Amino acid sequence: MKIVLASDHAGFDRRQALAEFLRLEGHETVERGAMSTDSYDYPSAADAAVPDILAHQADFGVFVCGTGIGVSIRANRYPGIRAALCCTTESAALAREHNDANVLCIGARTMTEELSVAILSVFINTGPSREHRHLARVEKLG
Ligand code: RB5
Repeated sequence: MKIVLASDHAGFDRRQALAEFLRLEGHETVERGAMSTDSYDYPSAADAAVPDILAHQADFGVFVCGTGIGVSIRANRYPGIRAALCCTTESAALAREHNDANVLCIGARTMTEELSVAILSVFINTGPSREHRHLARVEKLG
């Protein structure tokens, strides 16, 4: 898969670690947003990566900031983006199964690297439910 990762300064190190994990798993990665730990606004990070997803240049997005909250708020302002801030592997699986989430948001300051890798692994390896009720609800999201 091709996966676009984006972060602000607070998520810069974690984004690199997650990108490395994805590459080792055989995925192609593109990194957007902060290119160092110098201050970089989280809305701009989300804005930089959303076009790759909407243009089908990436299968998923992985957006990282200090909490994951700022990038998720910004990403969800775009129709067609379903961004989920996941703090457990269970929520990552359900975000894919029930919400067909296409962006995973991660908090670099609120969870360990080990947990964020586990969440990412579940997210990219879980497919959406084909049950009518879930499909209809996702359709309503717009
Ligand atoms: C940056 O200090 C921090 O506010 C940002 O990374 C994020 O947590 C915002 O939601």
